[in-house]
Amino acid sequence: MTAALSSLTVARPRRVERVVTGQRTSDGAGVKLTRVLTHDLQRRLDPFLMLDAFGTDNPGDYIGGFPDHPHRGFETVTYMLEGRMRHRDSAGHEGLLTPGAVQWMTAGRGVIHSEMPEQQEGRMEGFQLWLNLPGKDKMSPPWYRDIAPAEIPELRTAEGGTVRVIAGESHGVAGAVQRAVTEPLYLDLHLDPGAVFAQPLAASHNAFVYVYRGAMRIEGTEVPAQRMAILTNDAASDGVILSATADTPARALLIAGAPLAEPIVQHGPFVMNSNEEIFQAVEDFRAGRLA
Ligand code: CO
Repeated sequence: MTAALSSLTVARPRRVERVVTGQRTSDGAGVKLTRVLTHDLQRRLDPFLMLDAFGTDNPGDYIGGFPDHPHRGFETVTYMLEGRMRHRDSAGHEGLLTPGAVQWMTAGRGVIHSEMPEQQEGRMEGFQLWLNLPGKDKMSPPWYRDIAPAEIPELRTAEGGTVRVIAGESHGVAGAVQRAVTEPLYLDLHLDPGAVFAQPLAASHNAFVYVYRGAMRIEGTEVPAQRMAILTNDAASDGVILSATADTPARALLIAGAPLAEPIVQHGPFVMNSNEEIFQAVEDFRAGRLA
């Protein structure tokens, strides 16, 4: 924990372009979730392909988990707030996600994996983000890392915020994961009531905020809990300033990255650049060549 950093370093902040309500859906073996970043926003929020938020006290909503399924062509980032999920994949990786932990998986040319709850009762809450890979890396070998809660750097600002730096960099604190090309920033912000937090952002990067507790104010727009704010891309902007409302603490994910500006062709768990590459992925999966 780094103490007392001033976070006020942004002079021309971005505004809220649009507030998005996610779509309630289910995935895997009946896991109920909210798809916050949906298919129609993939181009706008390039390089991000999907954000799912799940949170429930009812085991019936999560107990089925996500049995064996394939992925190719992108990365999945799972961040747990509550609950325990066990991961197993065809590359031989196994890990247990616990509250506060992150799992970063690069599917690359392909993995088959399962994500199953390791609890029969209690609360399950967290997020899964899909981050695209550039075409040149889509067929790279799969990679996987479990990041324990203590391995995620945190900083405390003078203005009353605690920031968990999952990826990228914030106020001189390097996150647990760094990525070339897409340069993802993934922050979990915990702001005290009335606290302000500023984060510099490259003007060309696409950025969004998902509020999951309390409410955040961004340049005059109040973003309530369970809503995503897509931030404007003004060429002259230098970052974003968020504040919690005066009476309640607020928590939000701030996510940004460099757009790839490549064709995006998705077929379920495969995300490639062309239809031909998708046909190949399906064929490779059917022929058992994905694992
Ligand atoms: Co998966």
